[in-house]
Amino acid sequence: MEITDGVYKITENRFISGRTWVMKVQAPNLVPHIKPASFAMLRASLDYQYDPLLRRAFAIADVVDDELWFYYDVYGKGTKLLTQKKSGDYIQVLAPLGNNFFPEDYDHYILVGGGIGFAGLSLFMKYLREKGKSFKALYGVRRKEQLSMLEWIEENNFDVIIYTEDGSFGKKGLITQDLEKFAKEKPNTALAVCGPYGMMKAVVKLAKKIDVPCFVSLESKMACGFGICIGCVVKDTEKNTYVRVCYEGPVFDGFRIEL
Ligand SMILES: Cc1cc2nc3c(=O)[nH]c(=O)nc-3n(C[C@H](O)[C@H](O)[C@H](O)COP(=O)(O)OP(=O)(O)OC[C@H]3O[C@@H](n4cnc5c(N)ncnc54)[C@H](O)[C@@H]3O)c2cc1C
Ligand code: FES
Repeated sequence: MEITDGVYKITENRFISGRTWVMKVQAPNLVPHIKPASFAMLRASLDYQYDPLLRRAFAIADVVDDELWFYYDVYGKGTKLLTQKKSGDYIQVLAPLGNNFFPEDYDHYILVGGGIGFAGLSLFMKYLREKGKSFKALYGVRRKEQLSMLEWIEENNFDVIIYTEDGSFGKKGLITQDLEKFAKEKPNTALAVCGPYGMMKAVVKLAKKIDVPCFVSLESKMACGFGICIGCVVKDTEKNTYVRVCYEGPVFDGFRIEL
């Protein structure tokens, strides 16, 4: 599907916990074209205003009936404005974005989602289950209130191993602590990772050490979202060149990208 710039109705926009909100947008024409790790650029500015001018990028965390679901953490101007939108309001959405997704040819996957990065993996989890693929999912945060996708996990009946750094929920410690053991359990395993750069860097380092393929879904500051502005590049160390997260990504072979 061509990238579409459309105006869509918001069916829900509510606070969940920590700094996270969920926004659901009715977009039936986009639904069949969304892949796990696809993302969208949402216009956060209020009607007839252009501040902030640039749209903000968000992973499409789920597709339910004719809706796209976004889980977003509130940081600055754009995400604060998004919280003001009400159910019944309309929002401008540029989607579907991204051209490279998680490879599908492994026998077993370990999904490693840190913080709001879990929203970059949730659709892949659904996809793997639909395809009858074997996987284990890990979700790590600092504190319990940051487990904003817990409700989604329960509603969808997924079995996820949860880590909190302060021990307030699930296992105490870092998401990487059992990863080496898990990654060695089954042959032809790949890691699929999304989260803060520090966490992704640690996962890639471990994956290199134990020689297990590792694919990272990256976030970077984006202006256009479709390859024109060159604002979102990361270094491809194998080709010694720069690649655009929005266009050549958002998923990359973690062994090739400089994090
Ligand atoms: C492909 C892609 C997918 C993404 N998916 C999601 C998603 O599903 N959910 C989600 O919440 N975010 C996601 N992001 C990040 C999201 O785009 C930014 O958080 C958002 O643009 C911030 O906009 P803002 O106007 O609120 O903050 P800005 O005004 O742009 O920034 C305000 C301050 O917050 C800091 N900041 C901005 N973003 C972050 C961040 N992510 N983490 C820590 N500090 C930050 C800035 O450095 C700045 O200091 C994604 C980004 C990309 C590129
Ligand atoms: S955001 Fe413009 S090239 Fe990627």
